[in-house]
Amino acid sequence: MEVEPKLRPQSLESYIGQEKVKNNMKIYIEAAKKRNETLDHVLLYGPPGLGKTTLSNIIANEMGVGIKTTSGPAIEHPGDMAAILNNLSEGDVLFVDEIHRLNKLIEEVLYPAMEDFVLDIVIGKGPSAKSIRINLPKFTLIGATTRIGLLSAPLRDRFGVINRLELYNENELKTIVTRSANVLGIKIDEKGAAEIAKRSRGTPRIANRLLKRVRDFAEVKYNGIITEDVANETLYILDVDKVGLDITDRNMIVAMIEKFGGGPVGLDTLAVSIGEEADTIEDVYEPYLIQLGYIKRTPRGRVVTELGYRHFGIKMDVEPENMSLF
Ligand code: ADE
Repeated sequence: MEVEPKLRPQSLESYIGQEKVKNNMKIYIEAAKKRNETLDHVLLYGPPGLGKTTLSNIIANEMGVGIKTTSGPAIEHPGDMAAILNNLSEGDVLFVDEIHRLNKLIEEVLYPAMEDFVLDIVIGKGPSAKSIRINLPKFTLIGATTRIGLLSAPLRDRFGVINRLELYNENELKTIVTRSANVLGIKIDEKGAAEIAKRSRGTPRIANRLLKRVRDFAEVKYNGIITEDVANETLYILDVDKVGLDITDRNMIVAMIEKFGGGPVGLDTLAVSIGEEADTIEDVYEPYLIQLGYIKRTPRGRVVTELGYRHFGIKMDVEPENMSLF
C-alpha cells in the first residue's frame, strides 16, 4: 500500500512562517524540557487553515510526548471529557480543536484539570451525594479556535501561552507550495509556485488544495509541469481571481457596494443578503479581505474601501475623506 506522503511538517524547523509564534514556542519548549516539566497550556487562535493542528502535533513531537486529539463539538457530556483526561499518559498533549464549542458543563471539568491536574467527580444524587477528587497525570492542553472572542474568560485565563496565527505572506506561501510539490512529487517551476501562492488567500490549506487541482490540469492537458500559464488557466477555470478572491468574496463585496452603497452594513444584514452564515463571513472571508485592505470593520458595520472599489473597477461615489466619519 502506498504511504500517504507527509504534507504536514513534523518539526518546528520544517514549519514555514509564523516566525514569532515559532520562536516563542521554541523557548517555552526548551525551558520546560530543561526543568523536566510539562509545557504550560497553549491556546492557538486565528482563521482556519493556517496550521493550528499541525503546530499542535509539532509541539507534542518537540516535547517528545504523545498527543490525543478531540474537538469541542465531539464532546457532549462532562463524563466524556473526564474519561479522556483520565486516560492521558503523564506529559501527554491533549489537543482540543474548536475549543470555543465546548459547553459550559464540560468547561467546568477542565478548570480543576488544567489548574491542579485533578478531576472533581460527584457521586450519587441529593443529600447523599459525595464529591471525590481524582488525580490526573500532568498534561498540556492545546486549544485551537477561530473565535477567541467566544471563549469564556475563565477558560481563556487558564492558558499560560496564547498565540495568534497570522495569514501568511506570498513568499512564505511560495515556499510552502514548493515544499508540498516536492513531498507529493509534483513538478512546478518558480513562477508557477508564485502564482499559486499569490492566489491562496494567505492560507496554506488553500495553497495545498490549489496545488493539487493545478497538478490535475498540468497532467491531463499539459506536459505535467506546473508553469505560470498552467496555474493561470486552472485558477481562471476554478473561478479564483488574480488576488485569490472566489465567488463568495466577490458576491459579498459587490452586494456591499450595490445594495448598501459601500456600507457601513451590519454583519448579520450582509450575511442574509448573500445567503451565508455570519460566522463564516467573519472567520473565513473577512480576514483576507481586511488584509488586502478591500474592506474595513467599523463600529457601525463593514465598509468597502477605495481599494475594494478599485479591484472591482467600480467608481466610489463617496469621497474617501467621508469614510473616516465611520
Ligand atoms: N503545510 C501547511 N502549513 C505549512 C507550514 N506552515 N509550513 C510548512 N508546510 C506547511
